[in-house]
Amino acid sequence: EPHSFFQKSLSLLSVDTESLQKEIDELAAFSDTPAPSVTRILYTEKDVLARRYIKNLMGLSGLSVREDAVGNIFGRWDGHEPELPAVATGSHIDAIPYSGKYDGVVGVLGAIEAINVLQRSGFRPRRSLEVILFTSEEPTRFGISCLGSRLLAGSEVLVEALKTTVDAQNRSFLDAARSAEYAKDQDDLSSVFLKKGTYSAFVELHIEQGPLLEEEGISIGIVTAIAAPASIKLEFEGNGGHAGAVLMPHRNDAGLAAAELALAVEKHVLESGSIDTVGTVGILELHPGAINSIPSKSHLEIDTRDIDEQRRNIVIEKIQHSASKIAIDRGVRLSEFKIINQDPPALAEKTIIGAMEAASKELNLKHKLMISRAYHDSLFMARVSPMGMIFIPCYKGYSHKPEEYASSQDIANGVKVLALTLAKLSLH
Ligand code: GLV
Ligand code: MN
Ligand code: MN
Ligand code: MN
Repeated sequence: EPHSFFQKSLSLLSVDTESLQKEIDELAAFSDTPAPSVTRILYTEKDVLARRYIKNLMGLSGLSVREDAVGNIFGRWDGHEPELPAVATGSHIDAIPYSGKYDGVVGVLGAIEAINVLQRSGFRPRRSLEVILFTSEEPTRFGISCLGSRLLAGSEVLVEALKTTVDAQNRSFLDAARSAEYAKDQDDLSSVFLKKGTYSAFVELHIEQGPLLEEEGISIGIVTAIAAPASIKLEFEGNGGHAGAVLMPHRNDAGLAAAELALAVEKHVLESGSIDTVGTVGILELHPGAINSIPSKSHLEIDTRDIDEQRRNIVIEKIQHSASKIAIDRGVRLSEFKIINQDPPALAEKTIIGAMEAASKELNLKHKLMISRAYHDSLFMARVSPMGMIFIPCYKGYSHKPEEYASSQDIANGVKVLALTLAKLSLH
């Protein structure tokens, strides 16, 4: 029965760190930018090759592999009571432009290795265990974050939006998905929705993407909550014109409106008075983008987050107000103001937190409770399943840049805690 297994088998939980590191390095080679950076964008050739690599590994671990209409990939190890809701784990392998090789990847390759660890130890799951590769956690190509998990969680809004969503090259989402052999004979993607009660638990392993664990010398972070993210797209339009011939009093410069709004975003975020409120203008494009042409159009994308949803919503209202006011003052048009997503925070579930804490203790790994300031597929899986997340330290907290790094030892610790947590939840 459960307890005797854990007592006998703790010492049997051994991670093959060498193979895991080799896989992380091999996966990083599927990139559209040179090493050490990684760029892997949804449904591109590199993304398709990376997916094939993961499906192959799942197969080698004896998992049965299934894909849904948007390319969420599921690898299943049947438990001896396969009709019970399964225990799932997983993350993403898409990578934003010029990022690193650990974000998301540790939670996919590490999950497959956690399954290997359990198989080698002689463990037999009661509930089935599933590894999930989520499609497009990053919003890079279509502007929508956590696309796969949002759909799994049943977002009707997203199903509607995806019928007309296009990328920056005006390629439609459905066309791009079909090029990767997904969404074959359906325009309606609600087939992706998970049935309620599919999973009894979902656990995601991820690098911290912050500096705390490393600074404090702690191996394992146990996430209690994920901050609430939101993103906004907007456009200003003016008359443009010749940079020499149009005199200053006659201009309505869409670029200057954008610059002023970017500073207003910073101001509104700081006005919250909380260190937990953040805002970023990560995209600012000027049209036509010529040195001797007054910008006739500017395009901004703004990311703002907080652990307090209401406080984050106040920032969004202030940004909207500033955008309208700047447009009036500068005589430009606010031709678009679109809130792309405005998600609530998510809480990890008590039983799962308990299982992760117990696993860390039994493995003699120092751990602490913490919040996640980055969002994750777990934010959406929490809508359809009890959720938990395991963080491991990463070098200086670096993420979303090529210097991102986590040591093999820290990754192995995370995989062990994941394996033991999955085992506990599987017998639960
Ligand atoms: C996801 O990568 C995020 O921006 O938190
Ligand atoms: Mn990321
Ligand atoms: Mn990630
Ligand atoms: Mn993320």
